[in-house]
Amino acid sequence: MKAIFVLVVAFSLISCGIFLPIKVDKAQDIVVELTPERLERGAYLVEHVSGCADCHSQRDWSIFMAPTKAGTNGAGGEVFNEEMGTPGTIYAPNITPAALSSWTDGEVIRAIVSGVSKDGTPLFPIMPYPNYARMSQEDIFSIVAYIRTLEPIPNDVPPRKLNFPLNFIVRTIPSQAEFGSLPYKTDAIAYGKYMTNAAGCTDCHTPMEKGKPVSGMEFAGGFTMGMVSGGAVNSANITPHKTGIKSWSREGFIQRFKALDNPAARAIPLAENQINTPMPWTYYASMEAEDLGAIYDYLRSIPAIENPVIRYPELKE
Ligand code: HEC
Ligand code: HEC
Repeated sequence: MKAIFVLVVAFSLISCGIFLPIKVDKAQDIVVELTPERLERGAYLVEHVSGCADCHSQRDWSIFMAPTKAGTNGAGGEVFNEEMGTPGTIYAPNITPAALSSWTDGEVIRAIVSGVSKDGTPLFPIMPYPNYARMSQEDIFSIVAYIRTLEPIPNDVPPRKLNFPLNFIVRTIPSQAEFGSLPYKTDAIAYGKYMTNAAGCTDCHTPMEKGKPVSGMEFAGGFTMGMVSGGAVNSANITPHKTGIKSWSREGFIQRFKALDNPAARAIPLAENQINTPMPWTYYASMEAEDLGAIYDYLRSIPAIENPVIRYPELKE
């Protein structure tokens, strides 16, 4: 009886991946040349699109929409915990040169697109590396080139704690990246899909169960996230269903973001009893209107999913 129990436990650990090697090759021996074009494209993606400078900086949760605090760009330290829907406690690491100067470009690229840290630790996909793996190699090179130029900020971040069984399963998540390609802007839906993927919208807008997105609910919202400043918020349905963005015009969608592209929008103190939002509105607000429009076009092309969501249930909208 006991032997069977031991066998069952051993088998489940094996199937959870405890003994499995991580399916990602050694970091490639690449040197990313810093060209002005790459630095410009990298700045745009890191600071306004792909969330890097949002997650890897400290956000001010006392301000509505939690813009990032000056002087923390790339220094890490934001926490993701169970209240926020994360199966454990994970801190965003420091990605300024103060932390990454000893990493080769190949190692940085492997972390961003395959989810393996310099020392071989499998990263938890709070960072949407499966998304970044579908970006073009040139865009990833631009991101790496740009983060090499961030101001070095020394900041040590506590180690992560993942709950069982994710602490084992995490080993099965990293995978060898196959880069995609950047579609022409004239191919509106494909280009919009690329930008939506690069911006990680699905990350918060698809509900998760046991650390995995619920299939068939892509972009349908209803992912509940607890806020460090109190209360909880549900992500919105952004599919073209009437419980989603069916009634939104393209211009209205673009304006919802662009109206926040100014210093005043980044300085609205959170009122007493007001619940904050994790959606980095002010970060995305500086995305080019053309790219926001392309995201809208793509979102209008995906299956409409019925899922009525009350964003702030405690406030009874
Ligand atoms: C949603 C939040 C989020 C976004 C967006 C994000 N990251 Fe991360 N990143 C993290 C977290 C959290 C970790 C650590 C995961 C872990 O320890 O399991 C991480 C890990 C890393 C690492 C490995 C660092 C180390 O010490 O192991 C690098 C490099 C990195 N991110 C760079 C980037 C870049 C570049 C981008 C944008 C293309 C980006 N990240 C976007 C949250 C994020
Ligand atoms: C970090 C999590 C997160 C990310 C990333 C995120 N969102 Fe959201 N989003 C939310 C939450 C939570 C809400 C509901 C609260 C609010 O309105 O801010 C929301 C609300 C929305 C709304 C509805 C706003 C309204 O007025 O009804 C739209 C539209 C939207 N998001 C689009 C997007 C798009 C497009 C992206 C990618 C460019 C994106 N979101 C990325 C969390 C996120």
